[in-house]
Amino acid sequence: MKTKPLGGTGVDVPEIGLGAWQYRGGIAPLRHGIELGANLIDTAEMYRTEDVVGEAVRGMRDRVFIASKVSGDHLGYDQVLRAADASLRRLDIDTIDLYQVHWPSRSTPVAETMRAMETLADTGRIRYIGVSNFSTDELDEARSAMNHHPIVSNQVLYNLRRREIERTLMPYCLRHDVTVIAYTPLDSGRLAGKPGLFAAKGARTLQEIAGEYGKTPAQVALNWCTGHEGVIAIPKSDSIKRTEENCGASDWRLSDEDMARLDRAFA
Ligand SMILES: NC(=O)c1ccc[n+]([C@@H]2O[C@H](COP(=O)([O-])OP(=O)(O)OC[C@H]3O[C@@H](n4cnc5c(N)ncnc54)[C@H](OP(=O)(O)O)[C@@H]3O)[C@@H](O)[C@H]2O)c1
Repeated sequence: MKTKPLGGTGVDVPEIGLGAWQYRGGIAPLRHGIELGANLIDTAEMYRTEDVVGEAVRGMRDRVFIASKVSGDHLGYDQVLRAADASLRRLDIDTIDLYQVHWPSRSTPVAETMRAMETLADTGRIRYIGVSNFSTDELDEARSAMNHHPIVSNQVLYNLRRREIERTLMPYCLRHDVTVIAYTPLDSGRLAGKPGLFAAKGARTLQEIAGEYGKTPAQVALNWCTGHEGVIAIPKSDSIKRTEENCGASDWRLSDEDMARLDRAFA
């Protein structure tokens, strides 16, 4: 599994991690993914999957990078501290590797939230601070509010069919050492052949390229995401077989020409 640096932390994370929203697969697919090198698991307090993630990593905690999130409704100073402690209990671990603000708040000033995130890092309850669903302006404001810890990642919607971040957010993240964690990288399964794919513009090119590389459409769609500098992807699958397929999106690269073919096909 290829890795990429997480922000400017000096820590490397796999370019394909394991998403856990609506995850119902039990511990086996997560463990299989970890064995294949996809040793970053993304969960959140609102996913109600922190307990199964904790169970899956028991006995191998030191090999896994665990990312969780505080809900966008809990962004007051005390609320963030309480949410993190509850997540730690459900995950049954001492430290969350990456703690992310799930959504920007409309009511709580970002400086207050970030002060709590820094307290969590100072007290060892989390290692690194990230955000999610932050626009360029929101990320800029949040970064300005940090006193002594950086924001190392922004988890955002990114796949062949949803490329809004390419215009300003992605270049901003690259400039400021903020890793983009691409969520819904398979467009909820549509890019992997779930119903809807064949109606999608670009599907034929995706299938052609998959055939040329001897890969599946899902593997090509994920490799296209991670083919961008500073981007990792976190597909979710309940199945061991599909988790293995998704991990097979790493350790090879689409050519620049085929990246451009996909860009044009899904433009
Ligand atoms: N920060 C946020 O606001 C936010 C929002 C959404 C998602 N996320 C994160 O991103 C992760 C992934 O996003 P997502 O779950 O929305 O969508 P996704 O990963 O694009 O797609 C998941 C869907 O694709 C199917 N699938 C996965 N691999 C497949 C394969 N190789 N072949 C065929 N079907 C496949 C899954 O079914 P099976 O499970 O049956 O395989 C599931 O229905 C989430 O789990 C979560 O961690 C974050």
